[in-house]
Amino acid sequence: MSVENLPRTIWWEDDTVRLIDQTRLPLQGDVLVCNTYQGLITAIKSLAVRGAPALGVAGAYAMALWSQVEGRFIEDVEEYKTRFSQVAEEIAHARPTAINLSWGVGQIADLIKDDRRMSAEELHESIVARANEMAEQDEAANRALGAFGAELFGEGTKFLTHCNTGSLATVFFGTALGVIFTAFEQGKVEHVWVDETRPLNQGGRLTAWELLQVGIPSALITDSMAADVMAKGWVDAVILGADRICSNGDVVNKIGTYGLSVLAKEHDIPFYVAAPTTSVDTSLACGADVEIEERDPREIEGVTVTGKLDPSDSTVAHALDALTAQGSCELPMSKGHHMTIDRKGGGYSFDAWFRTTPPQVMSFNPAFDMTPAKNVTAYITELGVIHNETGDPSKAIRDLIEGKE
Ligand code: MRU
Repeated sequence: MSVENLPRTIWWEDDTVRLIDQTRLPLQGDVLVCNTYQGLITAIKSLAVRGAPALGVAGAYAMALWSQVEGRFIEDVEEYKTRFSQVAEEIAHARPTAINLSWGVGQIADLIKDDRRMSAEELHESIVARANEMAEQDEAANRALGAFGAELFGEGTKFLTHCNTGSLATVFFGTALGVIFTAFEQGKVEHVWVDETRPLNQGGRLTAWELLQVGIPSALITDSMAADVMAKGWVDAVILGADRICSNGDVVNKIGTYGLSVLAKEHDIPFYVAAPTTSVDTSLACGADVEIEERDPREIEGVTVTGKLDPSDSTVAHALDALTAQGSCELPMSKGHHMTIDRKGGGYSFDAWFRTTPPQVMSFNPAFDMTPAKNVTAYITELGVIHNETGDPSKAIRDLIEGKE
């Protein structure tokens, strides 16, 4: 059991983008093949690929798909630039909160910044090469961040983490969970509390799975249990990731992060944010300026279940064949429940949503929240650790970013 056995999340293969469909993990590890940038945008919006660092690389690969299908055939420079900007805009806005997505697109845009001297075909090759290089750099940054972070902890540390910041949230290795992986290799991890992370359960589905794969002692809790395990003295450190860190050190991350920071303060538990510098946005003064993604209310008004159907005899198989003869088949269900059956690659799968709330309910479903810098003990990056003793890390953040440039 080792981190190295975890799957790579997203990669370029045969002029397509392949990614592990995280909407179906951990029960199914399907690989999605995206042939077009629009297909990859759909995967981004549905969270088939997710997590700030992975989104950065997905943004670059989406541009590479556009280039593969369309851009490399446009020889007129002005037409190329116009279309490039439209597509870049569309990809960067697929999910607004993590800065990494627009950063990833921006890395590709940098390639066409100057007067275009390359042919569209040469440009295409450099776009794919840059996207692949970004994927490699992501892994290297995460490993460096993991090493810096692990130094902060001693033997027998009990962590609490939120959402998924593991290998699946990156191209490979992970950020906050990467710190835990590294600390575990050094014999320092006693236990990890895994916040379920409602409503999409990235903790319960993805982090719990990664920790099991690596063999790290862990236990799943619902988000509302975090206060109790802290009060019992069972948590030495809270560690989680970031979708965006602003100039003043405010952190925007998965909904629930802010609450954990307040709880950690109350219980005198250090609160660590682990993120690559690609998640730092020095263009925004503070967290209040970040656009928070609001997602489909159905995510909190019911439960989604996906799975495979395994017909035990030929009669059932024939019935499923008949139902899916035209592709996917929507089953008639009452009470607003919803279920479709699909036939894919010789098997049958289902996607279902069951309403668990009154149909008239009003709901609010922000995917992220903002944690003020004063609640963060330290920021762990691939360039080093910023200790936040004063509660105002803005100068240290600026120095770190300027040192990188
Ligand atoms: O909505 P998601 O699953 O993309 O949200 C992911 C998070 O909030 C992570 O904590 C964050 O991106 C850091 S991932 C290393």
